[in-house]
Amino acid sequence: MTTKDIGPKGTVQKSAEGALDFVDERSGVKTGARWFLFRNIPAGTSWFQTLGFTAMVVFGMQAITGIILAMYYVPDTSGGAYASIQRITEEVTWGWMVRGMHKWGASVMIIVVFLHMARVFIWGSYKYPRELTWVTGAVLLMFTLFMGLTGYLLVWDQKAYWATVVAVNIFASAPIVGPYIGDILRAGPEFGPSTLSRFYSIHMLVIPAGIAAFIGLHLYFIMRLGISEPPWAKRRLRIERDEEDARRRAAREQAAALPGTVTYPAGAPTGAGGDDR
Ligand code: HEM
Repeated sequence: MTTKDIGPKGTVQKSAEGALDFVDERSGVKTGARWFLFRNIPAGTSWFQTLGFTAMVVFGMQAITGIILAMYYVPDTSGGAYASIQRITEEVTWGWMVRGMHKWGASVMIIVVFLHMARVFIWGSYKYPRELTWVTGAVLLMFTLFMGLTGYLLVWDQKAYWATVVAVNIFASAPIVGPYIGDILRAGPEFGPSTLSRFYSIHMLVIPAGIAAFIGLHLYFIMRLGISEPPWAKRRLRIERDEEDARRRAAREQAAALPGTVTYPAGAPTGAGGDDR
């Protein structure tokens, strides 16, 4: 209950709450939203732990601007693709802005994902029990980079064409599987109309679906395990100190059990007990 809940309710508030209660009674949406959003987080949580969510928001923006661009883009290698991009930039209402948001958003997403990964790495948040969160994140990183590669070709100008030829040749030069990957990406042995269709389909259907699925998995692990504490959190330091104590105690007991170990009379200073850190 907040201070806003005090006092008589207006008609609008009453009707809104009534409608929400009606839906909640039948769907459990309020309970679900509370379960999903209202969670205890560790002390010391800061802006650093919002970078993953920022990546998610940028992905959402990319999806929205991408859908709008797809309404005007024509994947045609005989000039239609480039002409449609020009039309979006110069003629379509707000087209220049939507295209600009999508283009710069791609770079922002890559930068934010790397910053998020750096935070997770420097804080050691990838360690037990969050190994699978890291693995699903690594897949998301690959998807994000691949999104950049496949989107770059769609403009179908000289720069996009030759940059993608180089990138695909690098993939194709990998040992054993390289030539197969090259053929799959090019949709054949040469760059052509099918290559553009393939890149377009991968860019706007295959990878976004993959990213959405893996974000779901990533979030499931985060909700199951909770967000990790900062390395400087007192509770975490205490747990680490207790673990170190337990390790030392076990080592001492093991050493004491070895044959030929000298046992001292009770009360004699052994140098082994107590807090000897
Ligand atoms: C599209 C890319 C990604 C999205 C949308 C995403 C999303 C998120 C979100 C929302 C969180 C919760 C905490 C926060 O907001 O920072 C999180 C945590 C985490 N992410 Fe990501 N992530 C992405 C990429 C990655 C990558 C590339 C890695 C590492 C290879 C990674 C590993 C992790 C780990 C280990 C956590 C748990 C951190 C903790 O408990 O402190 N994520 N991610």
